[in-house]
Amino acid sequence: MKVLIVGGGGREHAIAECVAKSSRADKIYCAPGNAGIEKIAECVPIGAMEFEKLAEFAKSHAVDLTIIGMDDPLAAGIVDVFEEAGLNVFGPRKNAAILEGSKAFSKDLMKKYGIPTAAYETFDDPQEALLYLETARMPIVLKADGLALGKGVLICNTLEEAKAGVKEIMQDKKFGSAGNHMVIEEFMTGREVSVLSFVDGKTIRIMSSAQDHKRAKDGDLGLNTGGMGTFSPSPFYTKEVDAFCQEHIYQKTVDAMAAEGREYKGVIFFGLMLTEDGPKVLEFNARFGDPEAQVVLPRMKNDILDVMEACVDGTLDQLTLEFEDNAAVCVVLASDGYPVSYEKGFAITGEEHFAGKEGYYCFHAGTRKNEDGTIVTNGGRVLGITAKGADLKEARANAYAACEWIFFENKYMRTDIGKAIEEA
Ligand code: AMP
Ligand code: GLY
Repeated sequence: MKVLIVGGGGREHAIAECVAKSSRADKIYCAPGNAGIEKIAECVPIGAMEFEKLAEFAKSHAVDLTIIGMDDPLAAGIVDVFEEAGLNVFGPRKNAAILEGSKAFSKDLMKKYGIPTAAYETFDDPQEALLYLETARMPIVLKADGLALGKGVLICNTLEEAKAGVKEIMQDKKFGSAGNHMVIEEFMTGREVSVLSFVDGKTIRIMSSAQDHKRAKDGDLGLNTGGMGTFSPSPFYTKEVDAFCQEHIYQKTVDAMAAEGREYKGVIFFGLMLTEDGPKVLEFNARFGDPEAQVVLPRMKNDILDVMEACVDGTLDQLTLEFEDNAAVCVVLASDGYPVSYEKGFAITGEEHFAGKEGYYCFHAGTRKNEDGTIVTNGGRVLGITAKGADLKEARANAYAACEWIFFENKYMRTDIGKAIEEA
């Protein structure tokens, strides 16, 4: 089978690694890919938003399946373009990717179908939003409606902060057109869990749970980032939590999308909060998490191509997912200063230590290969260092040991990824 992966971050590296494990994969392409993916796939210099070019490439290279890793191309309808060209593609169509692309849509869907989530109101007029805040309870959460690289969420402790937030989102357009509409919702407290799933339009199969660490600094301090590290499974995702979500969240979401005429195929990522009143949905994503994929996929026993084909063909009911009975931890090695400002272009050394070490992975995110062949830092999140272990404690020790194998100037990491486990 020939496979094309669209994207070029740590998540796509983890997907490529999983595809490379499949005995069915004869050739893997990745567009645009990165300096790490290049070692297991042929990288093609086409951008993820160049749909026509990508479809042409898939056609002319007889690609059997294209996997879309990123949210932007999904929200903009890449799957529709591929389907119209008669190509097999894994991911939701535009009318289904809206589950992530519009927070107002996803909140309205949950309300209509009784899926547990925080109480909320939507606004397209800043004056009305400001008026609403006058009587609202603090803290409160403001969300820009559209995609904003995970940064369009403001948690406000006081009325003044909230008013300033409405101005930032709706008037100053800090998150661009994502701020034309906004959601104001109740602030919830509890543990967060990320649950990824495969969906074929009707059937949903849940992957092993994970937890992300979104803040830049130890102790969950500092600014929100794309994710500084993950672990899987989450010990807080108990059998009881799973039973509740199976009954009230997962299948209901798939059925709701079908009932709306927006048949969902691909990955649904459920961002859950385990509140005192039970699990509630914080958000949906229409793709694998980054860096959740880096801890979940290495533990999956199934052939990923079998599973993805079943999603495309609508035969997922014939499959069960299996995960290794172990754990994995991913620590992101970032450029110091991320997510605000940082220098790039520093040489990365030490990756050779990973060669031949079972259960250790050096996933590339923001890296680039120089003309002389050296690999240099090229982004805020540079590498995702993943290690497995018999349990989370061992996986954590292994991952942090492996982080010491790598060196680059201005290397920064959190030192408490997965520490919550030891407190559990
Ligand atoms: P989202 O992009 O909607 O997942 O929001 C990003 C992060 O903001 C989440 O992972 C939570 O940590 C936090 N957050 C979002 N909504 C709420 C809420 N209603 N209550 C408390 N925290 C929230
Ligand atoms: N790690 C969170 C996300 O991928 O949205």
